[in-house]
Amino acid sequence: MLNASSILITGAAGGIGTALAKAYAAPGVHLFLGDIEAERLGSLASQCRSLEAQTWSTVVDVTNRKAMATWITQSHQIRPLDLIIALAGISRGTFSREETPEETRAVFAVNLDGMLNTVEPAIPLFRQRGRGQIALMSSLAGCRGFPVAPSYCATKAAIRVYGEGLRARLLRENILVSVINPGFVKSPMTDANPYPMPFRLSAERAARIIKNKLAKGKARICFPGPLAAGAFLLSLVPPSWIDRFIKLK
Ligand SMILES: NC(=O)c1ccc[n+]([C@@H]2O[C@H](COP(=O)([O-])OP(=O)(O)OC[C@H]3O[C@@H](n4cnc5c(N)ncnc54)[C@H](OP(=O)(O)O)[C@@H]3O)[C@@H](O)[C@H]2O)c1
Repeated sequence: MLNASSILITGAAGGIGTALAKAYAAPGVHLFLGDIEAERLGSLASQCRSLEAQTWSTVVDVTNRKAMATWITQSHQIRPLDLIIALAGISRGTFSREETPEETRAVFAVNLDGMLNTVEPAIPLFRQRGRGQIALMSSLAGCRGFPVAPSYCATKAAIRVYGEGLRARLLRENILVSVINPGFVKSPMTDANPYPMPFRLSAERAARIIKNKLAKGKARICFPGPLAAGAFLLSLVPPSWIDRFIKLK
């Protein structure tokens, strides 16, 4: 079992990030929490401190490459990082309103550039240390494109594939990469969805699953099982069979 005690999380003040930070918060643990939402981040940091974790919170936008490199390097100097969780992500567009071109670009920027801005500064630090773990937040929504959020699905597919390649590239250097693929998790992101969300888990339950599987160094963390199986099958079926069921009415 990997026992991460120095952990950096992006998008920490969101639904899953908050639950994850609290799941890790304990005496002897060092948490570096980043988000763009100052108020929620400050409140989360106080909660983690009350759980006796040494906690630093930083308002930082994952799309700001320079600021991200500075934050990650400075955090590593305070306490060498064991685990980096690239969690920040956004989705735009609904059934009734297509995402605008600006929103499409924002989704790509936060989800993909933001992930790269998190991972790239960490790799040389982990190489120097001779170990480390990187967790990338993908989604079961990355199994194929869905009309309500094409850019979101595309970024999550890219994160999964990038993470698989990165894992195989870094394994020999004792740097583990895990890709997290949840189904629906209760959070402000999914609270906005007007459609049914089968097997939706609480953020706390999702955080427990993620923490447990990351400690085992799993390559892919897919949950809940039935939805993960459905997503896998969907990715195998020819698009023309599926389109008639998922197309917008
Ligand atoms: N919830 C699900 O069902 C589900 C399923 C699969 C995967 N995921 C993924 O899990 C991650 C967390 O999702 P969540 O449900 O916890 O969403 P969430 O509650 O919306 O949390 C995301 C957090 O990231 C912050 N953020 C947005 N843009 C940022 C930026 N440029 N730099 C730094 N932080 C930024 C958000 O701030 P604001 O609130 O101000 O935007 C929010 O605090 C995302 O990558 C999401 O795609 C979620």
